[in-house]
Amino acid sequence: MGVKKKIRIGMIGYKFMGKAHSHAYRDLPFYFDCDVEPVLQAVVGRDEDGVREAAERMGFASYETDWRKLIERDDIDLIDIVTPNNTHAEIAIAAAEAGKHILCEKPLALTLEDAQRMYNAVKKNNVIHMVCHNYRFAPAVQFAKKLIQEGRLGKIYHVRAQYLQDWIMDPKFPSVWRLKKAVTGSGALGDIAAHSIDMARFLVGEFEEVTGMMETFIKERPVADSSGGLSAKSESTIMEEVDVDDASAFLVRFENGAMGVFEATRFAGGNRNGNRIEINGSKGSIRWDMEQMNNLEVYFADDENGLQGFRNITCTEEHHPFAGAYWPAGHIIGYEHTFINLMTELMKGISEGYSPSPNFEDGVRNQEILTAIEKSAETRSWVNVKQMRLVENV
Ligand SMILES: NC(=O)c1ccc[n+]([C@@H]2O[C@H](COP(=O)([O-])OP(=O)(O)OC[C@H]3O[C@@H](n4cnc5c(N)ncnc54)[C@H](O)[C@@H]3O)[C@@H](O)[C@H]2O)c1
Repeated sequence: MGVKKKIRIGMIGYKFMGKAHSHAYRDLPFYFDCDVEPVLQAVVGRDEDGVREAAERMGFASYETDWRKLIERDDIDLIDIVTPNNTHAEIAIAAAEAGKHILCEKPLALTLEDAQRMYNAVKKNNVIHMVCHNYRFAPAVQFAKKLIQEGRLGKIYHVRAQYLQDWIMDPKFPSVWRLKKAVTGSGALGDIAAHSIDMARFLVGEFEEVTGMMETFIKERPVADSSGGLSAKSESTIMEEVDVDDASAFLVRFENGAMGVFEATRFAGGNRNGNRIEINGSKGSIRWDMEQMNNLEVYFADDENGLQGFRNITCTEEHHPFAGAYWPAGHIIGYEHTFINLMTELMKGISEGYSPSPNFEDGVRNQEILTAIEKSAETRSWVNVKQMRLVENV
């Protein structure tokens, strides 16, 4: 066996997604025999003590305190962007101009214009690119895709998607970056509905038109003392305005004629990460729930009378995409494995010279839909998604 080409990772940010991504790169070679090998070369953080500690804990060989320095380094092949949404465009465009491959967290950008600029930059500089919609890499979701592609569900009539969380229901929960439009773009919509949109595009196809509503229940919150991922602390009495949606809901007409009903909220008490989708077709249905992510519920209309109903498949067998790389059947996997699967595709793309889906083009399509929903909520009308498109044929 020859020595594998190393893909030297430079990661910017090191909290919630920093932990998920660096863990996935480390574990990937343990399960998947890729032609190339990811190496944790350098991590960036603005606070030197914090980033030094993160580099040691997560296994990076070095660190930087300015992302521009990382991009200038010639010992980095891939820039991994795990910072808040307002930083994605500037970093990704600079990385593309420097000829680095890019993995960017979702949503691709703060605005559709930025997303389009990022896509133009990766195309122009011919680098490999992906956006981190990890949930479609759960083996059960991949298996659902296979059933739909094989026509096992027939003509698709309904898509019912919910992404339900409850982590900001306490009015005293601080004003974190996910609640500031200038940093995040939109609230529940861009943060979690973006995942449901990606999954629906993956499983069913393109959105034609949308109509939506958005609501902010708690209009101001105390300034945060510290935050990371979905947790934060505050002792402050100073209040800040919340200028993004706490909850969003929208209807969709798909290009293939299917109807969609979507809901994304951080005010669904008791639901911690209820990312769910149900699809009904003329011959069958599927249901998936992130909190039971190994399972796919499947119904086939031609099952014997009397035995009809949803069957619960544990997607841990070699017949289920990606699952064969892990454990014997029934030995379940978790959240972190969705990232390992995504990064395996990314390594394959880098070694074979293509940008696996979801890539920046998918990121732009997703952002067009987010923008159309915001516009429809503002104007209280239906909005055609293609009318959002900034440049033809991209
Ligand atoms: N794929 C998923 O399921 C998923 C889940 C959570 C978050 N995300 C996305 O990942 C991104 C990061 O979210 P998070 O929850 O990890 O955030 P976080 O608040 O936990 O971490 C953000 C990190 O970025 C750093 N940072 C901010 N500005 C920086 C700058 N200018 N230079 C260097 N570092 C900087 C922070 O110090 C921190 O390390 C966001 O785009 C978010 O939407 C995706």
